[in-house]
Amino acid sequence: MIRIGMMGTGSISRDALTPAIASVPGAQLWSVLSRDEQRASEFAAANGAASPTPGYADLDAFLADPDLDAVIVATPDGMHAEQTIAAANAGKHVLVEKPMATSVADADAMVSACAKAGVKLAVAYHMRWHVGHRLLAERVHGGAFGDIRTAHARWTFKAADSTNWRAHDDVGKWWGLAGVGTHSLDWLRWMLVPTCGEVTDVSSAITTGILGSDHDEVAAATLKFESGAIAQFVSSAVFLAPTRAEICASDDYAMCEETLGRSAGGRILTSAGALEFEEVDPYAGEIADFVDAIAQDREPEVGGEEGRRNVEILCALCP
Ligand SMILES: NC(=O)c1ccc[n+]([C@@H]2O[C@H](COP(=O)([O-])OP(=O)(O)OC[C@H]3O[C@@H](n4cnc5c(N)ncnc54)[C@H](OP(=O)(O)O)[C@@H]3O)[C@@H](O)[C@H]2O)c1
Repeated sequence: MIRIGMMGTGSISRDALTPAIASVPGAQLWSVLSRDEQRASEFAAANGAASPTPGYADLDAFLADPDLDAVIVATPDGMHAEQTIAAANAGKHVLVEKPMATSVADADAMVSACAKAGVKLAVAYHMRWHVGHRLLAERVHGGAFGDIRTAHARWTFKAADSTNWRAHDDVGKWWGLAGVGTHSLDWLRWMLVPTCGEVTDVSSAITTGILGSDHDEVAAATLKFESGAIAQFVSSAVFLAPTRAEICASDDYAMCEETLGRSAGGRILTSAGALEFEEVDPYAGEIADFVDAIAQDREPEVGGEEGRRNVEILCALCP
């Protein structure tokens, strides 16, 4: 049993990660870290944390627990580096939320700290465990689509105002790009890099100020890969639209409607018709991969190097 400590009691911890931990054999919610000890204890109790002393407001005390095996860092993006490095130094394996950091230097320091401590570092791109996406990736990587020419992704959300931490510099850096754009970037890299090679050029157009933030409120990014394939994605914090992801290749195409998001559903169409897939919680797949990587002493499916590359591209798109 891998005993997991949750850092942060916000929306992703509450709505996706703790239910996923509860559903994965071999994973157990053990303890919780919050800025407020009572909130930590209440969150721990509400989600069945197993430690006899499950609620902490002090990072060092939380990490000093010898029964704690691993942590999930689900706090604002600008806090991930310090918390990940502290966890690694305490000998705990880390699953860090996306984007793993807000600078390449921080991502590098996280990768080094985990390598030095001999702990696993996984980055939480849950879209990789959407069963339809996995079937599609298998076909694309196996060559069934031929040579990829273009790929697209659009995933947006609509904030009511700019009070969220993502719209400010203290613990945020990017808004739409960090909320959802980083997932689209990961999806495109996952689908394309194995057959198209690395990203060689990037460009972007960024709009700010609609809700009064100077962080990206609408972003459009273009990526060129070694093979010549071109990918584009749009992220935004100021409008809601159906999510889309597409691949156009020499021998086939795929259109994914409403598959990007928190759900396991949506539709995927290729020239042969709909791709049938089972709807399985992608967050459960992410947690299962993390605990298997620890138990089997193997690298997690999305590790620190890939998370670092994502941050490097975000920095190039929106410095
Ligand atoms: N993979 C996904 O699908 C997905 C989806 C959403 C978010 N995320 C990622 O998960 C992380 C958390 O996002 P979230 O949407 O859960 O955010 P959120 O709802 O704002 O929660 C963040 C939590 O972090 C803690 N925190 C510590 N210092 C804070 C500060 N200065 N300001 C605000 N919160 C602070 C808070 O818990 P306490 O009050 O208990 O300290 C807060 O509840 C981010 O890195 C985000 O990108 C991933």
